[in-house]
Amino acid sequence: MAGLIIKNLSKIYEIESKKIHALNNINLTIPDGSFVTIVGKSGCGKTTLLKLLCGLEDKTCGTIDYTHTNNSDNNRISIVFQEPRLMPWLTVEENMAFSLINCKDKNNVSQKVSTYLKLLGLYNFRKAYPSQISGGMAQRTSLGRTLCYEPQIILMDEPLGALDAFNRKKLQNELINIFLKCGKTIIFVTHDIEEAICLGQKIVVMDRGSIIKEIPVSMDYYRDTSSLEFFHHKNQVLNILNKFLEEEQHEFL
Ligand SMILES: Nc1ncnc2c1ncn2[C@@H]1O[C@H](COP(=O)(O)OP(=O)(O)OP(=O)(O)O)[C@@H](O)[C@H]1O
Ligand SMILES: [Mg+2]
Repeated sequence: MAGLIIKNLSKIYEIESKKIHALNNINLTIPDGSFVTIVGKSGCGKTTLLKLLCGLEDKTCGTIDYTHTNNSDNNRISIVFQEPRLMPWLTVEENMAFSLINCKDKNNVSQKVSTYLKLLGLYNFRKAYPSQISGGMAQRTSLGRTLCYEPQIILMDEPLGALDAFNRKKLQNELINIFLKCGKTIIFVTHDIEEAICLGQKIVVMDRGSIIKEIPVSMDYYRDTSSLEFFHHKNQVLNILNKFLEEEQHEFL
């Protein structure tokens, strides 16, 4: 199978000789071209996992392998953070083109930027600076910068967390459009269980550095949040998280 294969992955941080087991023996397979969401309470290791996947942090032990599909040699991986992290002195289109700064074919760059500006509904604001656009537009610009780079794997760390409900829903749908159109692998971290079910073909539930459950979601896009099937998935995730919360409370008492 082509995709990401993570085996026995662990990460231990050390603060003043105190060891913090941020990830314990993670085993996870993510097929190429799939959409995976990761949920779990604060501090359970979600960001650490993404950082190891894109090489921002070194693993303590384990392996991360990526095998290509037959027709692709693109193994680029890119990460989108919760805050857009745009450069204030560059316009929307310049920020998006930034990931292609070393590309010699300037026509190709401008074509790509133009394509994603349109796809993300930013074309009319291409000459605006970050201070002149809304939070949702800034986050879309950040996503556009990543898409221009054309990675095969996109990691997203709570990228919609700061948005209002309307913009959040809109961007979720745009993300599904992009996923269906471009066939990328997307690994998306969120605190929002409904968001995880709306987006993921598989939901990975984490607790205290471990994966405690992988839940496949076979519903078609775009998902009806009022359907029985959606409700069933939501209950399933909530029950798992509650069970671990209860266990933790017992340990505390
Ligand atoms: N650079 C670091 N040095 C030391 N400890 C760290 C470092 N980064 C993360 N940790 C610790 O690793 C654990 C996992 O952190 P991580 O940021 O991955 O959690 P998270 O699931 O992303 O949480 P949140 O939902 O709040 O973003 C936490 O206990 C955190 O304190
Ligand atoms: Mg985090």
